[in-house]
Formats: sequence, C-alpha cells, structure tokens
Amino acid sequence: MADTHTLSTKTIFALRDREAAIAQAAKTILEGGIVVIPTETVYGLAANAFNPAAVAAIFAAKGRPNDNPLIVHISDTSMLSKVAVDINDAARALMQAYWPGPLSLVLKKHPNIPNEVSAGLPTVAVRMPENEIARDIIARSGVPLAAPSANLSGKPSPTTAMHAFEDMGGRVPLIIDGGPCTTGVESTVVDLTGAVPAILRPGGITPEMIKSVCGQVQFCAAAAQGQAPASPGMKYRHYAPAAQVSLFSGNKKEVAKNINTMYDIYNEKSLNPAIFCNTNCAALYVGKNTVVLGSTAAQVQASLFAELRNADAAGYGVILFHYEDTMGLAVRNRIEKAAEKPRR
Ligand code: TXA
Ligand code: MG
Repeated sequence: MADTHTLSTKTIFALRDREAAIAQAAKTILEGGIVVIPTETVYGLAANAFNPAAVAAIFAAKGRPNDNPLIVHISDTSMLSKVAVDINDAARALMQAYWPGPLSLVLKKHPNIPNEVSAGLPTVAVRMPENEIARDIIARSGVPLAAPSANLSGKPSPTTAMHAFEDMGGRVPLIIDGGPCTTGVESTVVDLTGAVPAILRPGGITPEMIKSVCGQVQFCAAAAQGQAPASPGMKYRHYAPAAQVSLFSGNKKEVAKNINTMYDIYNEKSLNPAIFCNTNCAALYVGKNTVVLGSTAAQVQASLFAELRNADAAGYGVILFHYEDTMGLAVRNRIEKAAEKPRR
C-alpha cells in the first residue's frame, strides 16, 4: 500500500460548494480512496464497503485493530438488500422510525460484504445517516460506505472538520467540511440478530426510543460476563483526551463535595484540573476552572467531544466529570471509556 502518511490533504467546504464537494468525494471513493465525510453524529472516514483494499486503508489510517468491525452507511433502503439479509420485523420497524438517523443495526451480513468490513463476523452494522451531505455522497458514489469515526484510534471522535484534520491530515487525500456535527456522539448500535433487540453501544437514539418501537430492549452484557464481546469495539479504550478523566455521579451535594476536594488536591499538585458539568451544576464550582457542557442531554452530547479536545489544547491535566442522569447514557458510556485510560 502507498504511504498514506505523506499524502497532502485537501479540504472542501461543502457548505460553500456542495456540488464540487460531493462530486470530488464520490470520485475519490470510486477510485478506491478514503474520504473524511460529515455525518450528524461524528465525522466518518469513508471508503467503498465493497472494496477490501480501500477498507484496509481505513484501518491503516486510523491505526485501528483489525478485529474491530466497521459500520456500513447507506443512502436509501434500496441499498440495504446489497449489504444485509434476513431482516426481521423489529429491524424494519426501527428503520421506519429512526432512519435516517443515529441508529446502527447489526444484521446478518450479505456475502457481498468483505470480511475486512465485518472483521470476520457473520453480521454487519448498517446505518442510514441523517446528514444530507453524507447521504448525497453515498448516493453519488452508488456504493455503501464503510466508515468508522475519523479519529486516530483511542482519541475523541471528531465533531468538526478541523478535529478530523488534526488526526487525519496527511493520512487521507480529502476532507469534506460540512460544519459541526449536530448530535455529537456516535450512533446507537443495536443487535437485531437475537430474539430481543440488544444495545451494544448507547448513542443518539435512547433505549426508551427503541423500546417504544420494539416493545422490549436489553443491554448486551456479554462482555461483562466474560464472553466474547458482541461489539468488539467496546473492549477497546476510547474517547480519551491526554488528561486523566474521573467520573463522579450520585447525590448532587456529595458529588460536589468530592469534586471540590479532589480539585483542591490536584490544584496543589499543579496538575491543572478542570471540572466538566452541566448548566444545572455550574453554581457548585464557582471560582474554579469549569467547562459547562450545556443544559439538555442533546446539548451536552453535542459539545462533549469538542470540549475533551479543547481540554487538551488548554493544558488541563485532570478532568473531574460531574455526571447527572439527565445527560443520558451515551455521555456516561463515553466518559467511562475515557476514564479507563491508563495513567501516564
Ligand atoms: O455514528 C457513528 O456510528 C459513526 C459515524 C461515522 O457513522 N461511526 C462510528 O464508527 O462510530 P466506529 O467504527 O467508531 O464504531 C463502530 C462500532 C464499534 O464499537 C464496532 O465494534 C461496532 O460498531 N460494530 C460494527 N460492526 C459490528 C458488528 N457486526 N457487530 C457488532 N458490533 C459492530
Ligand atoms: Mg470510533
């Protein structure tokens, strides 16, 4: 494979020249290249899902372990029959309710899908993004796109083209800038191959939203029980800024007491701590370095990854994260993953 690290990277602002962006992205994809594309969740690193060499180049550019499968993105339901088979009623109901949108469905894979995409699993995760630039690029390419988040493996997912450039500049030929991502956390991954829909990764679509359509939903506990993880990506550390991250949750007053105590200890050690919280809790931390992520779950999700990157740029050594249930499970999951990072 060519040394992708010496490639220069061109950025096209799709909001200014949409046609040129879509045409150039589709051309690059059909030539076997990889392109950073905007989606409503996070920026994706996209290639033709039917081209094993192009898919291999995604893993190389990210430094991603090759046992972690990719999500296949489609622009309309007519593409579905080319990527998945045996689609049951629950899957169809979820597609009807939440596609296009931040929901990836794990289905039985079509033989068309190379093992490079599914990491050898008999299943494939499929999603139809809501972002119209993404769907137009897929439609113009005429092929489904395999796309993980466009970050270096282990770093926070990019929610702006600039963040994608920080990680992928010089590694991919083309970045399409579609503005900041509106959802800000990755899609919910749901396994539809069993009797009960199982959430493998919480995301933009909540468990309640899935239950309201399917009548039932479960969380996949395979990894916790020591079995092979159903979603291989969940066994890897993710979303980690350089700063050490600690999550605090529970009784608000006790959390604030603990965070303030820890803050003072880290501050005395010159570790430059910062407190992440929602608007509701900001008053508990007056006079301290505080990053307020927003009021609603949607606002907190949308700002989370950008603020983790900003924290590194600002030189914070420790992030004390005040989690409240109103922030939602997707946020909790990302912070727990970031907190797993080994100490430096
Ligand atoms: O919102 C998103 O999903 C973004 C945008 C770009 O669409 N993509 C994304 O991809 O987050 P990635 O590769 O960063 O995460 C994909 C997750 C991983 O946890 C992976 O293990 C899981 O989906 N996954 C993919 N295919 C799977 C399969 N066949 N069975 C179980 N889990 C699967
Ligand atoms: Mg990712």
